[in-house]
Order: sequence, then structure tokens, then C-alpha cells
Amino acid sequence: EGLNALARKAGLLYFGTAIDNPSLNNTKYLSIAYNTSEFGQVTPANGQKWMYIEPSRNVFNYAMGDAIIKPAIQNHQMRRCHNLLWHSQLPDWLTSKNYTKSELIGILENHIKHEANYYKNECYAWDVVNEAFNDDGTYRNDLWLWTIGPEYLELAFKFAKKYVGRGTKLYYNDYNVERVNNKSMAIASMVKSFQAKDIPIDGLGFQAHFTTGKAPSYDEVKASMKQFTDLGLEVAITELDVRTTLPDSDEKQAQQAKDYAATVKACKDTEDCVGVTVWDFWDPLSWVPDVFSGQGVPCLWSANYTKKPAYYAVAEVL
Ligand code: XIL
Repeated sequence: EGLNALARKAGLLYFGTAIDNPSLNNTKYLSIAYNTSEFGQVTPANGQKWMYIEPSRNVFNYAMGDAIIKPAIQNHQMRRCHNLLWHSQLPDWLTSKNYTKSELIGILENHIKHEANYYKNECYAWDVVNEAFNDDGTYRNDLWLWTIGPEYLELAFKFAKKYVGRGTKLYYNDYNVERVNNKSMAIASMVKSFQAKDIPIDGLGFQAHFTTGKAPSYDEVKASMKQFTDLGLEVAITELDVRTTLPDSDEKQAQQAKDYAATVKACKDTEDCVGVTVWDFWDPLSWVPDVFSGQGVPCLWSANYTKKPAYYAVAEVL
């Protein structure tokens, strides 16, 4: 039995994976990605990001998003849609000009209106806002903050609510929040202030991009999740991977397996944790080597398509 089959028996809604557009011509890869015993949920790794969806102002192109979302629908895999607002992977027209506050609010609403409406009823959840906080708990100083001010966060969730399908869950998604720390506490405060003002928010996404040997423990992940489930939110592990300093070794693979298992078990044992998504499952297609020099092999399947110790450790705790 695969990971999704095990996850569902364990009471989770899904075990899923990110899929990136260049993967779509690899038939061996796809035979695993579309095997619903392994993966019951799909997230587009890039296809729904602003630079691809709205490459010119008010010109929308859903080709890359559809290439990932449509086969998942056909295959009866749930979809986490990613994302409506982020500081990164924005189109040049948006970053190379100074808009006024009211122009930028209009641009934000127009983007969310088109994209959320286009994917209406196709997303279990939307990552409405991605990575808006610094590790010290302050707001990230990006164009949204410096042009609109912190209320851009509330506006994004209000706009999303207006245009998504009924029942689509609205998530805030971030990294380095898998422990109780300044960042996760600041986000919990934001959720409380949203709730006091009736700003809609349903879920908290824990990206969980970890490093072998430095990942949070089972107890740490559980404690951080509790900050949000105590507020009535659901939580999910949305981008799990555990990168290793190269060269890889049996010892490192054994540690990586423990790191994966601790987080998956924390989700399984948290009543309102709905599922786990890995940020791709095959080492050669991971984003890690491009971004973290000297690091790699963060996935559950190795280059030759064998399942790594981490795969079996995850299966074991599900
Ligand atoms: C990454 C993609 O995997 C890469 O292909 C792309 O070049 C950069 O973005 N946090 C997120 C994801 O929320 O959108 C990022 O995805 C990884 C970190």
C-alpha cells in the first residue's frame, strides 16, 4: 500500500505531492505521481504563481496551472492551489513600477478575482498569502507592505473569500513556523486579530522545508500546530522536504528518515491536521540544489526511482 492509502486509513484526508510543469514529459515520474495509492493530492509547484498567471497586466494565462490541475481532477486527486499573493515570482510589470496604494489594491483584487474565479470549485484549499513574515515575527518588507501597509493581508483574505468557490479553505502558508517561535507566534496573533475582525481564514500551512539532522522534533511540530488548532483552524504540512549536505551517506539517509517521520507523525496525531504534501518526491526534480548550494537529495524517491529509507519511515508512522 502506498502513502496516500496509508494516510487515509490513518484518518488524514490525503498524502500529496507538488508537481512542476517540466515533470509532465517524464512518464516514469508520472506513473508514480498519478498513482493514487501513493498520492491523493497535488499542488502545482509553479503553475499558479502570479508571473505565469498574469504575465502582463490584466492578461491571464492559465496554461501552466491547468497542465497540473486538470489531470489531478481527472485522476480524482485533491488539489491545493498555490498561491494568490507572495513576494516572489511576481511579473516584471508589477515589480518594476511604483504603483500607488489604491492602484496596488486594485491590482491585487483583480488578480485574485480572475484566478480564484477561474479555479472556482477546483481547489480544496488556496494558499492565499505565502511567506509574509520574517523569522523575528515582523512583517516581511516587500512591495505589498511598503505600498499598502499590513492591511494587505486582510484585504487578500477578504478578496479571496469573495471569489473562491463555496467550501474552498483559505490558508496562510509559511516556512520556519514548525516550532513555537517568534514567527509562528506572530502568525498566531495575526489569526486572532483576523478572527476579532471577521476576516476569513481557515487553515495554516506549515511548509516544512527542513535540513537533515536539524528538523524539529515530533513534540515541537505538535506544539506549533496546537497554536493554530486551538484557534479553530485546520493545519497541513504543505511543502515537506528534508535536504542533506552532499555527499549523501547511509547515516544521513537514516537521519533524514527520522526527520521525515517525526513531522508526518505529528500531523497524523493532530486531530485537525488534514494532510501532508511533499515538495516533490523524486530527488532529480527537487528545487533544493538550485537554491541551497551543496545540498540536495531531499525527497522520498532517489534518482534511480528506488524508495529511500525516508519513504519506509513515513509509511511506518502512518
Ligand atoms: C519553488 C519552486 O519549487 C521552484 O521551482 C521555483 O523556482 C521557486 O519556488 N516556498 C514556496 C514554494 O512556497 O512556492 C517554493 O517553490 C519553495 C519555497
